[in-house]
Amino acid sequence: MQRGQFSSTFTFVLAAAGSAVGLGNIWGFPTNAAENGGAGFLLMYLILAFLLAYPALMAELIIGRHTRANMVMALDSIATRQSAKKLGRLTGYAGMVTASLILSFYAIVAGWMLGSMAEPVASFFGFEALGAWLTAFGTARNIILTSLFMLLTGLIINAGVEQGIEKWSRRLMPSLLILLIALIAYVLTREGATDGLRHYLVPDFSQMTNPDLIVSALGQAFFSMSLGVGTMLIYGSYIRSDANLPMVGSLVTLADTGIAFLAGLLVLPAMFVAQNLGVAIYGDDGSLIGGPNLIFQVLPTLFESMGGVGFLVGFAFFVLMSIAAVTSSISLLEVPVSYAVENHNMSRKRATLWLSSAIFALSVAICLNFDALFDAVISLTTEWAQPLISMLICLFAGWVFYRNSILNELKQGNPDIEHSLFWKLWPVYVKFVCPALIGVIIFQGLLF
Ligand code: PFF
Repeated sequence: MQRGQFSSTFTFVLAAAGSAVGLGNIWGFPTNAAENGGAGFLLMYLILAFLLAYPALMAELIIGRHTRANMVMALDSIATRQSAKKLGRLTGYAGMVTASLILSFYAIVAGWMLGSMAEPVASFFGFEALGAWLTAFGTARNIILTSLFMLLTGLIINAGVEQGIEKWSRRLMPSLLILLIALIAYVLTREGATDGLRHYLVPDFSQMTNPDLIVSALGQAFFSMSLGVGTMLIYGSYIRSDANLPMVGSLVTLADTGIAFLAGLLVLPAMFVAQNLGVAIYGDDGSLIGGPNLIFQVLPTLFESMGGVGFLVGFAFFVLMSIAAVTSSISLLEVPVSYAVENHNMSRKRATLWLSSAIFALSVAICLNFDALFDAVISLTTEWAQPLISMLICLFAGWVFYRNSILNELKQGNPDIEHSLFWKLWPVYVKFVCPALIGVIIFQGLLF
């Protein structure tokens, strides 16, 4: 069977950054930062992103490109002992289940983005009631918008790597960056913005040892870089053999953390600007409000306060958010789809149809039991499953995969790698330091 491939390293970086940059950066990161004391969270997040998430990303990319297979087959094939092969397959299945569960809640939040995108248009044409319905929390609205979003994701995945994933990432990612920067420039001119900046950029170090903050920052870093579910491994399997992997990995890491940082620069100051405009941003207990609705409350207020252009800016913002969500959700759906196509000989079309329907059924279950399931699924997948599976992937890269095979893999696209700092540090790092640190953080999170 002909496997798909990214046509150049540049398009790979765009697609991998497209997967990494999504609701996690613009919805998840600022919400988490607001809930966890602003700057302290930002600092811990940056430390963990470069110290743990980048090496773990490299493990996925290297294993993926070497094996040219989905995670189940990849981890099985680098192992020689039966027990390790079995553990590899189990890890692959766990990644697939996690990817599906993530997509089930991701599609709900992305549906809200679609709703907020359509609202200004509906209101503009005089359909006020429809506009209100699109943005007010409700089970029917959640399910309908989620179904639209899943449909969009399925259509792109059905089109395959070059025509689907690659084409859309290349078009859409740069526009997101430009709009974000323009919005930051605007918000920083408004009254109240400096209070938000202070909150975001001046850390309170006493908070940084809080176990909850560390676990949240770890979860955020792994979620944001799309790790621990096999996405980056499968994207690595589509990359050309002459690409320089450590460089590609660092570009993706920089793009991802950069956009999260920028999103914080928009949303936290926007909260304080909104406060000036009469929105309550502190909860009853005196802490900043966070929660899933944060940006849906704060940003529209900001857009309205812009006057006439606010309508256009709000529309553009939510269009781009929806796009960022699609370039991530396609990478999530690709995980089970590539497995079904490669291991069960299903056609891409059938696999996409069945799997997206099954994941949509999970989303409906969450919508129907929102209070009980929504936060629980997010915490289970992002704070526990992703770091744990990443830890296993690092263990595979460090202990099971032969050092020589790794070196040969890295030499393609970078013949001098043997003398580089990356090669001196990374193998030891991924073997001992990454798994140990992830283990300690998870353990302390469980204890406290
Ligand atoms: N990284 C994406 C985001 O920040 O929105 C979410 C995500 C995509 C997580 C793909 C995991 C994944 F495999």
